[in-house]
Amino acid sequence: MPSPQSSSSPSQSGYGDDPVAVLGAGALGRLWAAYLPSETTGFVPRNASALSSFKLNYHLEDDRGREHDIVRRWLTGLSGTSLLLVTTKAGDTLDALAPIIDRLPAPCPIVLFQNGLGSQQAVAERWPGRPVLAASTTEAANRPTPDRVVHAARGHTWIGALTETGAAVTSAVIRQLARSGLEVRGEERILERLWGKLAVNAGINPFTAILDCRNGDILTSPLFLDHIDALCDELANLIEAEGLPSHSPRELRDNIERVARNTAANTSSMRGDFQSGRATEIDYINGYVARRSRELGLAAPVNQMLADRVRTLVPHPNPERSS
Ligand code: PAF
Repeated sequence: MPSPQSSSSPSQSGYGDDPVAVLGAGALGRLWAAYLPSETTGFVPRNASALSSFKLNYHLEDDRGREHDIVRRWLTGLSGTSLLLVTTKAGDTLDALAPIIDRLPAPCPIVLFQNGLGSQQAVAERWPGRPVLAASTTEAANRPTPDRVVHAARGHTWIGALTETGAAVTSAVIRQLARSGLEVRGEERILERLWGKLAVNAGINPFTAILDCRNGDILTSPLFLDHIDALCDELANLIEAEGLPSHSPRELRDNIERVARNTAANTSSMRGDFQSGRATEIDYINGYVARRSRELGLAAPVNQMLADRVRTLVPHPNPERSS
């Protein structure tokens, strides 16, 4: 079983020519950086002048409950970067990439790990000549305190190209990410996969944020029961209008309820954002569904209502931050 590459048990050398840069030091970025070879993986600082140390230290609890001390460099030069993982929040992606993209070698693949949809297309549209790829992952990680990441459950990560030059490097990216020991696969229809995840998030996350409850608790709430069928109708119509393989509203609802049951005790990422005082990704989930529906001449009043309600919620730090 592959392990994270802690400072006390460094990985084998041999990858010295392939530096991987991680932009976004949240739970997911720290998870990937912990599992990738320690000597060639580092973080890209958002504000290099504010750094108080050359290294980022944190603890990782792996999926078997073992503790690891992780030490990774802050990268100042990016000219040798062979792969960039972007693990920022969806709303921060363009602003985080814009100041550094010209410092990356032109052939360096850029892999976007954002939730929802909208931010990935924005990057591919802004830099169409760059090898831009999107990742959809079921790796579960959370960050209960600033210097601690918990790898709650192993999952799979699918990688697919968003630009033409991205398609040419997909296999090389998968090989490089597979060095982490995490499960990585190629996905030719990455948009379909991202839509599948978006539909689940659209049917769980806003309810957990508005009701301030764990995933499983939405299933018996009047808010969910009164709106889930109409929400699934809106999703099914939009998915079809996007030209993607269609799903019946019933299928979408069953899938949402299955995930909510399987993760019943979890705090969704959106509720977690509120509890940590962070902005949510609602604009890239229900907000994206409402916007795309409008653009395509479809009605999506339930997605719009949920997006509006989440936008008016006030973040409230909460001591109960387990996930
Ligand atoms: O966003 C999340 O937290 C997760 O994708 C999901 C499916 C809602 C489970 O917690």
